[in-house]
Amino acid sequence: MKIVVKENYADMSKFAANIIADLVRSKPNCVLGFATGATPIGTYHELARMYKEEGLDFSKVISFNLDEYLGIGMNLKKTYDLDQSYRRFMYEELFSHINIKLENTHVPDGLAKDPDKFCLQYEAAIKSAGGIDLQVLGIGGDGHWAFNEPGASFKSRTHVERLTKKTLDDNYEAFYKKAGVSAEQMPHFALTMGIGTILEARSLLMLVNGTRKAEIIAKALEGPVNANVTASAIQLYKGDSTIVLDREAAAKLTYLG
Ligand code: PGA
Repeated sequence: MKIVVKENYADMSKFAANIIADLVRSKPNCVLGFATGATPIGTYHELARMYKEEGLDFSKVISFNLDEYLGIGMNLKKTYDLDQSYRRFMYEELFSHINIKLENTHVPDGLAKDPDKFCLQYEAAIKSAGGIDLQVLGIGGDGHWAFNEPGASFKSRTHVERLTKKTLDDNYEAFYKKAGVSAEQMPHFALTMGIGTILEARSLLMLVNGTRKAEIIAKALEGPVNANVTASAIQLYKGDSTIVLDREAAAKLTYLG
């Protein structure tokens, strides 16, 4: 586990984008795992800049997103409503700004008629793409990894998860409120890769910024491995993981000195 502390969000985002760009350059047909939320936006914008100014080529990249709200989604024809789906988020923050082929991008389908069946298909699609080379991750205010809320099994695969009050409150403030959606209307369930799925990626890149994450990331990295902080599963990860934090988020880590 490599922990990197950057001065601020912009530096953190550039550093993270460079790790992704290095992989895309060395393996143009790599499989990237993307995350959503406020944290990776700077990284995605930096990747878009690299595409535009440096010709970073995503034409052969395949991607799989971690999660999606159940009940909403955008279709690939871009006839989306003003929803807060993660499909739409990815389109607006990254996919529409780079040359990735939309048919090579996968976001769990929040509109799937049979969500449980869809989850099995999503796992199969990851497998048939050869597995994920690099998975981008954040951490939720309640310690969640993807949408694996407290109590999720460390062996879980892609599944439907009920969101906690903390997650609903955090994401309402960050996204739904601005869109004029009431807290009651916001989806209370999500499709998410399981912790077992995430732990099979060949490398992990976890991004954490801001004071509000300082306590929970310290618990995840330095506290006991336990299902109440599902991101603590990173301590069980066998591959190459990099955690990039800004100084505020790193404030409560004990062992950094
Ligand atoms: P955030 O969400 O980036 O919006 O803080 C992170 C997460 O929920 O994993």
